[in-house]
Formats: sequence, C-alpha cells, structure tokens
Amino acid sequence: MKQTVQFTLNGEVVTCIVDIRKSLLEMLREDFSLIGPKEGCAVGECGACSVLVDEEAIDSCIYLAVWVDGKEVTTIEGITKTDGSLADIQQAFIDAGAVQCGFCIPGMIISSSQFLKENPQPTRAEVRRALSGNMCRCTGYQKIIEAVELAASSK
Ligand code: FES
Ligand code: FES
Repeated sequence: MKQTVQFTLNGEVVTCIVDIRKSLLEMLREDFSLIGPKEGCAVGECGACSVLVDEEAIDSCIYLAVWVDGKEVTTIEGITKTDGSLADIQQAFIDAGAVQCGFCIPGMIISSSQFLKENPQPTRAEVRRALSGNMCRCTGYQKIIEAVELAASSK
C-alpha cells in the first residue's frame, strides 16, 4: 500500500508516493538520491542514518517515511551552506582530522550540529553524551570530540 507524503527536504517542499512500510532512510536514498545518510546497523543502534526531523536528530532507519508528512527534514546534504561551501561543523571535522573512512561522519555531523545549536559552549562530557548514539569503527572518537569542541570554540 502506498501513501503520498509532502514535506520540506533540505529547504525545498517535495512530494513522494511511498510504500507505507518504507523507512525514511530508504526513501531519502532511493527516491531522492540523498546518499549522505548511511545504513549501518538498520536497527537504530549506530546513528549512521541520522537526519533532522523538525530539528531533532532521529535514526532514519527506524523512522517510517510516511511520518515525515508535513514535517521538515534536513540531511547532511542540507547542512552544507546554500553556496555549496562547507558548514562550520563540517570544516571543523576536516580541520580536526576527525574523518577516517567517513561512514559515520554524516550522522556525527547531524547530531553535532543540532547539539551545538542547543548547547553552543558544551563541556567535553556533554559532547561525549551528545554523541553517545553515534558509533565510529575507525577514529576512537577523540578527534571527533575535538572537532565538535573546535566548532564550538570558533563561534
Ligand atoms: S543505520 Fe540507523 S541507527 Fe544504524
Ligand atoms: S570514520 Fe569510519 S566509522 Fe567513523
């Protein structure tokens, strides 16, 4: 069974006819070719699929596509500035050397950007807590935490 959903995707109003069983992650990747959000675990554990829905970071692999009807969705592609240049948080990840294979990074940046909006001057413990739902198999997390702190300090 299919349903029409209309929502704002990275600042643009879009419509999609989607299978009601499809996840938001599947719709973003398959119907909108937004491949920034990644499928890691597919069960809501790793955070690789994180996107913002109405400015709240969610795991799009366990969030039904039809639930975004009337809502605002931001993916890693929408974090980039409108002129195509990197957002401060993206640049901070590069400057801090926080990216290895990169698979977890879209989710890390989505979670970080929302966190810094709510808490622009966080402590290290708060950064750790904020990213506790995002797994990384490469970096050991230290550089990622430093990247978020770098982004906060440059405000
Ligand atoms: S792929 Fe969604 S939480 Fe792991
Ligand atoms: S950089 Fe490879 S999983 Fe995080």
